[in-house]
Amino acid sequence: MTAKKRIFFNEVATRDGFQIEPGFIPTDDKVALVDALSDCGYAKIEVTSFTSPKAIPMLRDAEEVMGRIRRAPGVEYTVLVPNLRGAERALESRADELNLVMSVSETHNLANLRMPREKSFAALLDVICHVDGKTPINVSLSCCFGCPMEGEVVLDEVLRWGERFAGLGVRGLTICDTTGMAHPAQVSRMVEVLQQRFADLQLTLHFHNTRGMGLANVLAAVQSGITRFDGSLGGLGGCPYAPGASGNVTSEDAIHMLDAMGYDTGIDLSKLLAVARQLPGIVGHDVPGQVAKAGRIMDLHAPPASVAELREQFA
Ligand code: COA
Ligand code: ZN
Repeated sequence: MTAKKRIFFNEVATRDGFQIEPGFIPTDDKVALVDALSDCGYAKIEVTSFTSPKAIPMLRDAEEVMGRIRRAPGVEYTVLVPNLRGAERALESRADELNLVMSVSETHNLANLRMPREKSFAALLDVICHVDGKTPINVSLSCCFGCPMEGEVVLDEVLRWGERFAGLGVRGLTICDTTGMAHPAQVSRMVEVLQQRFADLQLTLHFHNTRGMGLANVLAAVQSGITRFDGSLGGLGGCPYAPGASGNVTSEDAIHMLDAMGYDTGIDLSKLLAVARQLPGIVGHDVPGQVAKAGRIMDLHAPPASVAELREQFA
């Protein structure tokens, strides 16, 4: 029997997921959620972000959350970092990885990070020099499949920024579809080129389900050879500085799909669904994820009593 192909998940609910929530989620709830997720088998958890508390008030408790979470062996605890100040805070908090962020769209970068792309690149270069190889660095490039304000983003632009960071020795690149503009054919085409150009880097795909194409895009990426994905519990998420942004691809739905197809996600799906079912109570509203509501297909085998009675009646 051939070994199942391993797919690695990075859970971003407490960062990408929470940053767009309107009401502040108490620090205790964030810590408890990360601790529960730590028992589910994730390769990585993006715990929080060290951005300006004025820009993202929800994550102003980043230090406290990082200080209080339980670190499970085998799980990497990563954090989003926009600048040197953020990097210093992240290192102080003993993050296992720094996830630097900038957009390949000039307009989105201005809206989100309040500076032109070149200035962001210079700031991130400072971070990379400051870290000096002591902690692994991943770079998330926003709006790689299209920009909600500029429209089309050409592949060469994604490659250009990717190459600049690859030249600085980063460990990985996350190719983000920040506002759900990617479609499966585009994903397959892009992934093919990315894998050739960045064969030595960890490549992660980050999809949003804004237009209902999230799972189709995950599948297209997997079938084109990608093994790393960001996902958000319940399908929470979105960039507060991107018009029309909505939830990430739902972790448990993507994991359920890949499990059913015979991939090894490393995740204990029963445990994950139990955590997912607590999420509406934490955020105070229903969430988009579907498998937590419908149950796993592999658990659906007992016909309801009413059907058993009908069977007898017509036997
Ligand atoms: N951590 C804490 N505080 C920070 C900070 C950081 N990483 N970076 C900047 N600040 C503070 C500064 O100290 C300053 O505070 P003050 O007004 O009390 O003096 C204030 O924020 C503004 O600093 P400045 O350097 O002028 O930054 P800015 O206002 O141009 O903002 C960013 C730049 C990148 C820090 C800010 O836009 C940001 O954090 N954006 C968040 C983007 C994000 O996370 N989006 C969602 C994920 S994709
Ligand atoms: Zn996102």
